[in-house]
This record gives sequence, structure tokens and C-alpha cells, in this order.
Amino acid sequence: MPEIAPHARAVPASGIRRITELAWSLPGAVVLSVGEPDLPTAPHVLDAAREALARDDTRYTPNGGIAPLRDAVAAWLDPEHALPVRRDNVWVTAGGAQALHLGLSLTVGAGDGVLVPDPGYPPFTMATRLLQAEAQPYALRPEDGFLPDPAAVEAAITDRTRVLLLNSPSNPLGTSLPEHLVAELVDVARRHDLWVLSDECYAAFTYDAPHVPAARFDTDGRVLTLHTFSKTHAMTGFRVGVLVVPDRMAPLMPTLQESIVSCVNTPAQYAALAALTGPQDAVEHARRTYREHRDLATAILDERGIPWLPAGGGIYLWADVSHATGGGDVAAWAEELARTAGVAVAPGSAFGAAGEGWVRISLTASADDLRTGLSRLPARTAVAAG
Ligand SMILES: Cc1ncc(COP(=O)(O)O)c(C=O)c1O
Repeated sequence: MPEIAPHARAVPASGIRRITELAWSLPGAVVLSVGEPDLPTAPHVLDAAREALARDDTRYTPNGGIAPLRDAVAAWLDPEHALPVRRDNVWVTAGGAQALHLGLSLTVGAGDGVLVPDPGYPPFTMATRLLQAEAQPYALRPEDGFLPDPAAVEAAITDRTRVLLLNSPSNPLGTSLPEHLVAELVDVARRHDLWVLSDECYAAFTYDAPHVPAARFDTDGRVLTLHTFSKTHAMTGFRVGVLVVPDRMAPLMPTLQESIVSCVNTPAQYAALAALTGPQDAVEHARRTYREHRDLATAILDERGIPWLPAGGGIYLWADVSHATGGGDVAAWAEELARTAGVAVAPGSAFGAAGEGWVRISLTASADDLRTGLSRLPARTAVAAG
């Protein structure tokens, strides 16, 4: 038999999937390990998809997506980006996941290096490996509040590095990069002539300070920005995202998109258009709900003596369970916890070596699930008391 391509075998499996599938198989287990919005998709979004089906608008669209959706995205982002955002800069993708793949396909080849945050969203490394490139982790450390240190990022650059990947608000950390740090990191990329791939999929969910797009500091067309409708508009199954590319990439895009998906599902694109141009109450409701869940979760963790990282954005809370793992393997501990206590949290090590001893709690779960699930975490005070 022919060999399966080695680089396909080299893609690491997702540790989040593993714990979540285990939890789904355990009756009564509370699943706090997955970032799936628990809120309904807004009715006007569902109507737009139904209307597209009813008028049989089910054919291929242009590679970049339907013009009104691209224009709406451009109008939304243009005031926030330093360089103009026009229809040709906006490419509709099959979720944030395909925007990531497309962004990396445009910027790296076999053997190139991609600076990825550690802890970071696992597909940053998975998609990099699938392209036969090398993930070069830059550690986010507890002593820096898990924010990137531009000097450490710079030190991680090698002659193979092509891309600096940023993610704010962060999955899994819930950190939101302050303006000065975003500016410094784009500046590092400029000095070393790197692309910046900025994953801003959680831009709609910031709680303490407004979101800062990396493209605000892009003076020479090196920043590519990822967005998705999945979380903002509770549309994970519609699979609509966006990649915003600099002008000089635009001519290549139809061919690249043609070689991967041709175009995105047509009724889903109309749903995304309605999501962006229609009433935004559902987005504001989601933002308030996740913020309340953050405050609820941190209060419960405080009662249990479990330290957590302040979450300025996103839909996750990062908590330190090293008292319970005793320096051991947090992934094995989390599986044992799911089996014995009936709560699944995502082990920090699933997001990189720097996540050892920590877990990610999803704030998209219902308040009841958060109360029940978090009360099943071993209290730090009880451990300290022996
Ligand atoms: C940081 C980040 N980027 C991209 C994605 C992918 O988004 P989508 O579900 O739209 O493919 C996710 C999904 O969890 C994410 O957390």
C-alpha cells in the first residue's frame, strides 16, 4: 500500500477534543472544556439562511464571497485599520479555521517557521505542521500575566521565521493585548520583515478595555487578520469566517480559494450578512452573558482558593490547578477528574508546554453548569489542609 504523507501524520491531535469526547461519554458529566456558545443564533440570521434556501440561492458564489458580505466586512473594519479595507482585501472563508489555513498557506512553505503563542490555540501548531512548516513557540509566562514579552518574541526569531502569529483576545487565556504591546509586536515583525497573522476571532468580546486590532499599526501591508462569525454571532455550524489580506496578496486569492473550497456555503454567507448588518442585540447579550459568567466563575474559584488569570476578553478563564496536580501531568489529571468528579476542563498542556499545571474553563457553558462543574474542582484550601 502507498504511504500516508508523513506531514499528515505529524499533525498533533487536539487535547481539547480528547477530554471533551471522554466527557460526552460519561453520563452526568459537566462539560466546561469546549468553546461552543450556549446561546441561540439570532432569529434574523436564521431567517436570512432560510430565505436564501427558499429562493433557491444555492449556487457557487465568487471565490471571495458574495459582494454585499465582503463590502459589509470592509465597512466594519475600515475605520479600525491603518490601511484601507476594501472588498478585494476581504475573503470569506469556511470559519476562522480555514482563514487560519489560508493565511498560513499565503505566508509559509516547507521548513519555514511560525512564531506561535504558548499557551495558544492548538490549530496554530496543527495547521503549521500540515503545511510542513515549523511551529516556533514563544512562551507566555505567569510572571508577565501571560502577556507576550516583545524581547522574548524577538529572541525566538530564527532565519527561518516568516510569521508572527498573534491572538487577542486569547484562546485559551482570556487575555486581551493592550495597545502598546500590539504596537510593539507589529514593530518587531516590521524590523525582522515578518508577516503578522492576527487572530481576532474574539474581538467582539472584550470586557475591560476596547479591542486593539494589529492592523491599526500596519503601515506597510504585512498584517493579515482573521475573524469568524462562529462565536460572536453563535454561528459555529454555519462555518463562516473572514481573512483580511494586504493589497498585494489580493490577485492571488481567487486561485488559492479555488484550490481549497471554491467558495463558502451560499445560504450561510447570507446568514453572515444578516448577522453583520442586522440588529446587534444578540452580540451585546452574548458579551454581557460571558462577562457575567466570568464573574460567576471567578467568585466560585475564589471560594475554592483556586488562582485564576484576569480575563479581559474572550470566552475562557485560565485557572491554576497545580495544587491538585502536584506538579504532575495536567492532562492525565483532567481525565481522572472527568471520570471521578464528573467535570471536564481543558488541560493547559493541550495548548503548549507553558500550560502545564493550568486548565481552561469555557464561559460559554450555562450558569448552572458553571456552578455545578466548578464546585467539583478540588479546593486548594482542602488540599493545603491535607
Ligand atoms: C482563536 C481561535 N481562532 C480560530 C477559531 C476557529 O473558528 P471557527 O470555529 O470559526 O473555525 C477558534 C475556534 O475556537 C479560535 O478559538
